[in-house]
Amino acid sequence: MNTAVNLPPRSTSADGQSHLPVSVIGRSASGVEPAPPCTLVIFGAGGDLTKRLLMPALYNLAGSHLLSENLRVLGIDHSDNTDEGWRSALSETMQSFTRDESAEFHAKQIDAAAWGWVRQRLSYLQGDFEQAPLYGDLTHRLQGNVVFYLAVPARFFGPIIDHLGAAGLLKESGNDAFRRVVIEKPFGADLSSAKNLNARILKSAAESQFYRIDHFLGKETVQSILAVRFANAMYEPVWCRDFIDHVQITAAETIGVEQRGSFYEATGALRDMVPNHLFQLLCMTAIEPPSSLDADAIRTAKAKLVECVKPIQPEHAVRGQYTAGKIAEEAVAGYLQEPHVSPDSATETYVALKLAIENERWSGVPFYLRTGKRLIGRRTEIAVRFKKARAPLFADAPGMDEQSDLLRIQIDPTHGIETILNVKVPGPKMQLAPVATSFRYDDYFQQKPNVGYETLLYDCMIGDATLFQRADNIETSWAAIDPLLHGWGKGTPELYAAGSEGPAGADALLAREGRQWLKLDPK
Ligand code: BG6
Repeated sequence: MNTAVNLPPRSTSADGQSHLPVSVIGRSASGVEPAPPCTLVIFGAGGDLTKRLLMPALYNLAGSHLLSENLRVLGIDHSDNTDEGWRSALSETMQSFTRDESAEFHAKQIDAAAWGWVRQRLSYLQGDFEQAPLYGDLTHRLQGNVVFYLAVPARFFGPIIDHLGAAGLLKESGNDAFRRVVIEKPFGADLSSAKNLNARILKSAAESQFYRIDHFLGKETVQSILAVRFANAMYEPVWCRDFIDHVQITAAETIGVEQRGSFYEATGALRDMVPNHLFQLLCMTAIEPPSSLDADAIRTAKAKLVECVKPIQPEHAVRGQYTAGKIAEEAVAGYLQEPHVSPDSATETYVALKLAIENERWSGVPFYLRTGKRLIGRRTEIAVRFKKARAPLFADAPGMDEQSDLLRIQIDPTHGIETILNVKVPGPKMQLAPVATSFRYDDYFQQKPNVGYETLLYDCMIGDATLFQRADNIETSWAAIDPLLHGWGKGTPELYAAGSEGPAGADALLAREGRQWLKLDPK
């Protein structure tokens, strides 16, 4: 469909610079206070998440002067290491990012002052997450505000929090000191395990002390969805079943499972992406206006929305698994040939589904969600297809495009918004053509280096839980997909070639309702 759309040239001045609207020129992030002093305790100091995302995020925050002079970072892991050993290993990894353009964090050079600031605050503690002595050690080392960050496999969440609780490390002393715990995904593997984990951790601390992370909420473009919806009178009134035909939410990746075969085997695309990332996009798209921008108001609006999602039945979903193929002309292996994957695995690497939201705003509007690995294009976006114009004036006009009346909120890799409209082709006859009007964040705003974890870390330090998932939100999301998890049983996924648009069954899911997916192939 893209090919039919004539993109207008970007507006530029005589010196070739993009025009910026006056209201944006000169705006800066100044005025944002640094976070209060605290110790950030990272369980999983030697892990990938710490190296690839947490350290770059701390470095970026340090560069923006958003951390307290009194920040300390204590890394904990099973293996033997020293403060200096950990610091040097991380310094090397930071340097390696300057040579790796495909890393989440890539910079031409590492700013010595900003990294030095972080580096000197790092110390290391060797310990067994599952044994009491580590926590005895911690009680001596920690005072005041502490954020415990669980950058560890999910099996450690329960035991670590039990130990922190038993050692009294989660006790907050009035307003003087906070004790917070950041928990990575996956939070549970289905409804009952998520409920059990919530019940277990809530024995050790209050709900308000837990920050369940979903890194999609750290993406600026995702945070902007509420602004687009509720700060623009031209969208707000039409954002409902009277005007919207359907919504497509896509998170398509070109990468495969890489070195994460053993994690992925037990997880699959549904658990990995749907009840968390895609549901967060769904929430931002479909929630009722919250009573304020307060964390609890937004989280309550989300919980109410997900409660209205009808549990998804297997006949409304399709799962797929990639076979060998080509991505950008390069031959790539099939899922079954990936390291640490069983040769007869039935794990899905793709899922597409239709869901219904039973409330006044959305009743009758299908939401189609899809996500998969090794697809032809990388694209995370929300596409809102409006209903046909009510006046029949142009119903039969030549050039009237079925694919227009579309709003695309582009999250990755493009950050922007595009609308596809019907306009008249210049000339004597009334002939229509679809055109795109598009906005790119980087045409208007100076892009700050960002791996998505900066906001999340900063928010946790200042105690703003807006972007974190509350227990009820997690549980209702699992409840919505539970029939799939249990109903799919031992069946096998449909195969699709790496580098394709996904399994044919996904097209059929929409085709039987007279609709089609937007193409992933950018050509
Ligand atoms: C992670 C999943 O949570 O999100 C990965 O475990 C997936 O499988 C990733 O690749 C996608 O995130 P992003 O930010 O790269 O779109």
